[in-house]
Amino acid sequence: MHSDAVCSPEDKSSVLSEIWGDGGGDRRFSKYPRIPVKELEKLRLRSDDPLDRYLEASKVDARKDDVVARLKADAEAGSVPAQELWSQYSKVPDWVDWERVKRGQRVFWLNAPPITFLLLHFTLIFGVAAPKINKVLTATGYLSRPTRVTFQRLLETTHWVLSCMADDGLREGSTGWEGCIRVRFLHASVRARLRNIAKTNPQLYNEAKLGIPINIEDMITTILGFAVGPLERLPRLGFYVSKAEREDFCHAWRYIAYLSGIPEDVNPLAKGADYSVSFEGSIVLHSCHPDDSTIRLAQALLTGMSYGAAELSSDHKATFELISGSRSTLPASVPVDPVTFEHRRLRFYGFYSQLTRIILNNKYCDFLGLPKKKIGWVEWAGAYGVLMFFAVLTKICRMLPFMRTWLINRNRSVLTRVIAAVLREKDPKFLLRYEPTPEKMREE
Ligand code: HEM
Repeated sequence: MHSDAVCSPEDKSSVLSEIWGDGGGDRRFSKYPRIPVKELEKLRLRSDDPLDRYLEASKVDARKDDVVARLKADAEAGSVPAQELWSQYSKVPDWVDWERVKRGQRVFWLNAPPITFLLLHFTLIFGVAAPKINKVLTATGYLSRPTRVTFQRLLETTHWVLSCMADDGLREGSTGWEGCIRVRFLHASVRARLRNIAKTNPQLYNEAKLGIPINIEDMITTILGFAVGPLERLPRLGFYVSKAEREDFCHAWRYIAYLSGIPEDVNPLAKGADYSVSFEGSIVLHSCHPDDSTIRLAQALLTGMSYGAAELSSDHKATFELISGSRSTLPASVPVDPVTFEHRRLRFYGFYSQLTRIILNNKYCDFLGLPKKKIGWVEWAGAYGVLMFFAVLTKICRMLPFMRTWLINRNRSVLTRVIAAVLREKDPKFLLRYEPTPEKMREE
């Protein structure tokens, strides 16, 4: 276990010092001061109360119930906790400006390829620098084991992001809107189970030390990772984002945060992009102290991705046709010789490692144990090439309105088609599939 002192991002010798400096370092606090640790600690003791209350009262089963239909029916039948929760969904808050939401969604589609890379290589791989969050992730095995399931879950999260970014994707009844509610139930169910386990096994989850599982600080960290993380890193990769675009993007995410259960009174996105960047800085200093769990999770994510990518590329003709639009589904996967498969998987692992190095710099990646000299030149050039290709394409397309619209539509159709095909056209239901158990927690 590495001590906090060694890993504090402000410490020049720390593994996070490069990332911290690259993200603006202490300049993040020039406009808005750093949030006192005491304030952040308070957020760790705050939960998603309306949902916890409803879950407790209704005994909804997140493993099999259609939680949205149940909630609506219970509210209509007069259940008070259901009505309290449903009132957040049945009326759109006054501050939601649909035109701005739409503009924010278009910022996403214009930059969708690099944002998708950033969500994995920045938001997630850097996200696991927070050991207290990792404790919850490893309790369910969520993202912490390097298998095909990890890939599946990453795809489902991407599907959720894409559905939130779809036209009218956040309007009542849409896939994105429903997805936010379902994921909120998923989180609350994990929280309830973990708290239950902690009652009889305090050594497995110490709430006084770690905070409530999936508490408000951790939820804010995660949502800022989705919203502000890409905004901060895009310019460093050669993608221009205007001030107005930053604000619109944050407005769309502010509403997603609201739908996901982050109380509006503490949602940094309500105070705009600069405030959110500064808030994220305070949280990084407070929560990010990478340790062994960071290495394990980051490796599991990259390895899981490489499994999925190797599987997809075993039928590269079909994958290419899918991307180009000449087909919309993938044929059933065929068995591949294990040696060839492993060879291919390692190449993807190298490619993803190089992308992570470009995005997160060397110090942190060395700490994670990512290869450097062992990365083949094809993977190395592929990682730079793909980012440069999209940077140049986006720069050119931004110049003329009709090309901008073309790129937005193109990115939208390719990504939506590819994710749907790889998920075999099954929209994720976000049912609780991997419950935390004392056994799993002891194993970790
Ligand atoms: C508002 C912020 C957050 C968002 C938008 C978010 C998003 C998501 C999404 C889309 C899924 C479903 C993925 C799938 O089907 O595989 C998911 C599942 C999950 N999330 Fe979050 N998440 C947030 C915060 C957190 C935090 C802070 C933690 C942990 C401390 C966490 C832990 C989990 C776990 C354990 C699951 C998997 C549950 C299961 O399937 O068994 N999430 N989250």
